Amino acid sequence: MKTTTRSKSATPAKSTTSATSAPPKKGAAAAPAAALERRPRGSASRVSSTRQASFTVPTLSLENGADVAERLQQRLISLLDLSLTLKHIHWNVVGPNFIGVHEMLDPQYAGVQAMIDDLAERVATLGAVPSGLPGRIVDQRTWTDYDLDRADSIAHLGALDVVYQGVISDHRREIEELDELDPVSQDLLIGQSAILEKYHWMVRSHLADWAGGMSNAGADSELGAAQAVTNKSRSGNGSRSGRSADGRR
Ligand SMILES: [Fe+2]
Repeated sequence: MKTTTRSKSATPAKSTTSATSAPPKKGAAAAPAAALERRPRGSASRVSSTRQASFTVPTLSLENGADVAERLQQRLISLLDLSLTLKHIHWNVVGPNFIGVHEMLDPQYAGVQAMIDDLAERVATLGAVPSGLPGRIVDQRTWTDYDLDRADSIAHLGALDVVYQGVISDHRREIEELDELDPVSQDLLIGQSAILEKYHWMVRSHLADWAGGMSNAGADSELGAAQAVTNKSRSGNGSRSGRSADGRR
């Protein structure tokens, strides 16, 4: 069981993928033995491959194409995890604001699903092998599962704010990295970031007060944020006295 705090903002280590040799499968050494036995992918090595193709997009070297694809694969894993988290919240949110939060998350899920498809197809276009298989998500991600199960809407929103913060930060980090490598892939992440930031705003607007303060201010973990907003909602927020929840006016 994983006990570390999930951090979406952790940047995975980048490996230098050879364009002509099969890249090492990340996290393979840490994969549970039972999972490997259940699905022995190695036994299919004569009929399938994770190897970079002999092509990538025009003007990119094979090595750079593989590098860009690996970066996009990490963003794919992040968005797959986000989409599952959104559905998890959609199913487990309770309380007086249930229906508003429950229904707000469906279009966000649909939007992220569309981004996932675009990312995966871009990875394939670059000549690499996209993967969203459950084992790959667990192997390749650098964080643990979302921390909340059945919880009040405000608690989930406080935690989801932290999730979006991490996902968007990593998207923006890759936008910087892709500036010289591949403007087309960079443009894809820029477009996705604009939509993700809009979703983030919708979540944050539930946590903000009239002065611009946030009820989960200072929290950097999902549980910490959920606890902070729950405490604020139980005690009443400070905006009634003219001071915002995090002390700003
Ligand atoms: Fe539903």
